Amino acid sequence: MNHARLNVALVTVCGKAMRDVLLENVETPYNDIYQAILAKKCKLIPTRGRSVLNQHQIQLVYPDHPNGQQTGTVDRFDLSLLYTLIRNVSTVPEPTTFWGNDLQEQPTDSSLGASVQRIRSYRNLISGHSPDATLKQEEFENYWFKFDAVLRDIENALGRQVYCSDLARQETCYLCL
Ligand SMILES: *[C@@H]1O[C@H](CO)[C@@H](O)[C@H](O)[C@H]1NC(C)=O
Repeated sequence: MNHARLNVALVTVCGKAMRDVLLENVETPYNDIYQAILAKKCKLIPTRGRSVLNQHQIQLVYPDHPNGQQTGTVDRFDLSLLYTLIRNVSTVPEPTTFWGNDLQEQPTDSSLGASVQRIRSYRNLISGHSPDATLKQEEFENYWFKFDAVLRDIENALGRQVYCSDLARQETCYLCL
């Protein structure tokens, strides 16, 4: 049950935060992230060398690949794909501890890049935890506390709320998850 609740929180609340980060950090001169994603197609799926996106992700990002000029909608992108696109397409700066590294050692880095990396790490840790194994109440609460902290950091960076209003936050977000 605790495991399921954490997964729901990752997919819903953290997913929304990651989508907002992607949508709002677009390099000039592109009008929006979709234009940027199209422009970076040869970087994400180069004709030679290793593709950044796997087959499933290519379908989601460029549904009419190889010839089309369409992109899929971010609503259908999962946390892994959002993370990859934030790193490769958005203007979110790399955290001081670099992309891909666990931020346990940098508990005070509240930059947007650090928050994105944290969500990535939580997702990996939680999905690596067997759903059958019981997640201790204490561990569960610890994740909940971390989710809350990282969402606040993202909200501060974006300058607005990404999920619930503050008043409703405790009750609506926490109880419904
Ligand atoms: C793009 O994303 C992939 C997967 O997350 C990563 O391995 C690669 O290093 C990223 N490229 C950059 C420039 O960050």
